Amino acid sequence: MALGVAVPWDQGVSEYGQESMWRDTATADAERARDLAARLERRAKAEDEVAARDTYLGLLDIAAGERVLDVGCGSGAVTREIARRVGSRGLAVGLDPSPALLAVARELAHETGFGDRIEFREGNALRLPFPDRSFDAVVCVTVLSHVPRGRLPSLNWFESCGREDVSGSSTWTQT
Ligand SMILES: C[S@@+](CC[C@H](N)C(=O)[O-])C[C@H]1O[C@@H](n2cnc3c(N)ncnc32)[C@H](O)[C@@H]1O
Repeated sequence: MALGVAVPWDQGVSEYGQESMWRDTATADAERARDLAARLERRAKAEDEVAARDTYLGLLDIAAGERVLDVGCGSGAVTREIARRVGSRGLAVGLDPSPALLAVARELAHETGFGDRIEFREGNALRLPFPDRSFDAVVCVTVLSHVPRGRLPSLNWFESCGREDVSGSSTWTQT
């Protein structure tokens, strides 16, 4: 049965993510990057966020020695927790389009002692700069809703690695 209900929130939206402060971060200067990083680090410490992170990373069952990609890593809060889980023989790779945010992420990774097991790379979620099957798991936390035309992961995400996938409305993970 057709209900014929109008969906006001979807009317007039020509581009998803248009109003987001997290899009166009590639051009952020150092000052804006510090402000964005401070917001992310504050959020990462909140009790509910810690619990959620534990849950979605727990579902991935990350093992020592694995290689895990964090797409749209921002200041690297999730990347650092991944680095803790992969251990000294593993590798966490944080990808973000913002060189200035990545600079802050590198600083924080070194300060917390995880610098040697994290690589931060500049890049775009929609064109991952890695060959297929480069990773054991991929996470993308609160990113796609800020990416124009980013509602669906591009096909090469699914080809990037091997196991099953666990998705949520704003957090997307794949092993
Ligand atoms: C809300 S922040 C989330 C950061 C991190 N995932 C976290 O949860 O702490 C959104 C991030 O997506 C990044 N981003 C925006 N557009 C992107 C794109 N096209 N590809 C990858 N990352 C993007 C931003 O630079 C920003 O770091």
